[in-house]
Amino acid sequence: MENNIAEYIDLVKKITEKYDSPPTACVHSYGCQLNFSDGEKIKGLVSQMGYSLIENEENADLVIFNTCAVRENAEDRVFGNLGSLKHFKEQRPNMIIAFCGCLAALDKTVERINNSYKYVDILFSPSALDKLPKLISEKLSEGKRAFDVNEYRMPMEGLVQKRDSSFKASVPIMFGCNNFCTYCIVPYVRGRERSRRPEDIIREVEYLVENGYKEIMLLGQNVNSYGRDLDEDITFPELLRRINGIDGDFIVRFMSSHPKDAGRELIDAIIECEKVGKHLHLPVQSGSDRILSEMNRRYTAEKYLETIDYARSRIADFSFSTDIIVGFPNETDEDFEKTLDIMRYVKYDNIYSFIYSKRSGTKAALIDDRITDEQKGIRMRKLLALQREITSESFERFIGRTMRVLVDGTDKKTGMLTGKSSEFVIVRFEGDKSLIGSFADVEIVSAQNWAVTGKIKEK
Ligand code: 5AD
Ligand code: SF4
Repeated sequence: MENNIAEYIDLVKKITEKYDSPPTACVHSYGCQLNFSDGEKIKGLVSQMGYSLIENEENADLVIFNTCAVRENAEDRVFGNLGSLKHFKEQRPNMIIAFCGCLAALDKTVERINNSYKYVDILFSPSALDKLPKLISEKLSEGKRAFDVNEYRMPMEGLVQKRDSSFKASVPIMFGCNNFCTYCIVPYVRGRERSRRPEDIIREVEYLVENGYKEIMLLGQNVNSYGRDLDEDITFPELLRRINGIDGDFIVRFMSSHPKDAGRELIDAIIECEKVGKHLHLPVQSGSDRILSEMNRRYTAEKYLETIDYARSRIADFSFSTDIIVGFPNETDEDFEKTLDIMRYVKYDNIYSFIYSKRSGTKAALIDDRITDEQKGIRMRKLLALQREITSESFERFIGRTMRVLVDGTDKKTGMLTGKSSEFVIVRFEGDKSLIGSFADVEIVSAQNWAVTGKIKEK
């Protein structure tokens, strides 16, 4: 860690040590797993500064909103929650409120916070995450608002992370995106692709595995372009193989892959590496070539299906999941039907579907959209109904099989244990809670449209 971060951490600690009782902090992350991973780094810094973490903002001395910019409803939620903080701050004026994450990298947000949310004390963009101790020390010692909207750069290596789970860990391998899909705000808030050095990633995974972590989730906006910006000659499939070579009993997953860069080499690596989950999340977004071209996705439905077919030529029921956007500007019924066709062909084990959300600053925001919200709603319901049909049928293929499951919690309704199989399918079974955080072999006896249910096999 750079000296000056340590100095600022100490500075804050010296101030907070004088409080009557130890200070508390509440960190809220929104959005994707990369943002939650940033949230864990923020929690690490905050803990080092002497704050203890609490869940509720009401009594916190420091409240941090780590925000998401991908869709409008996420933005509305953040500003709604921020609005309700005003009341707490009036009652406890010493409360520090910080705003960070992807929304904080947008000029219009900085302006909005500056003008209309005067009670926000600190604002920093994702690349300036490690400036938090400096910003807090400035706020505490000078009493002024402290903002840092940094140019895009590589977040610092070696920050202490306070991880949300003791057995599942996210490991970002790269930051930013170069693709400029026309609907997406990410390239504007996270900047261009920057890959971490393979040695740093390997060291982190080794450390996690030594400390009992059983699932390593490699993260990046488009992991398939990993390494292109490094001097070293390394590709994502090679990185997967190197991580697979690390000793220990753990499962490796990753997201997301852009279909234009996901080819045979990637499928081969997934299949040949025994520690890599037999599953690929491959966001298709739409089944219509016209819409894919308007989205600047740089593949056609046919090209996308080549990767699917190749995987299935090696494992007949290879598991895929996807992201789909419903109601991209001027999507016709015909375009939408093509999305349903692709779903029927691939038979995804899971889909994450989103109604298109206009993000100002992106190219798609300039399109004059003639589809109504009602039409979009009807399409979404149709798509979800089809997916339920697909999963209830295709999950039957697991009946009779024994799946190795990383147990991760309990099902609220039934109290059964839940976990994920290698294929990233949710598995439920009766068992003791002490199994949470370890692997169990489960023989599948029935299939639902969102999970499969089975019986644990005694070892
Ligand atoms: N509207 C709706 N969904 C979006 N996504 C990204 N941008 C938008 C948007 N403007 C979805 C894509 C992406 C996922 C992370 O979020 O499907 O794969
Ligand atoms: Fe957005 Fe496309 Fe980059 Fe994904 S690949 S972050 S959808 S621009």
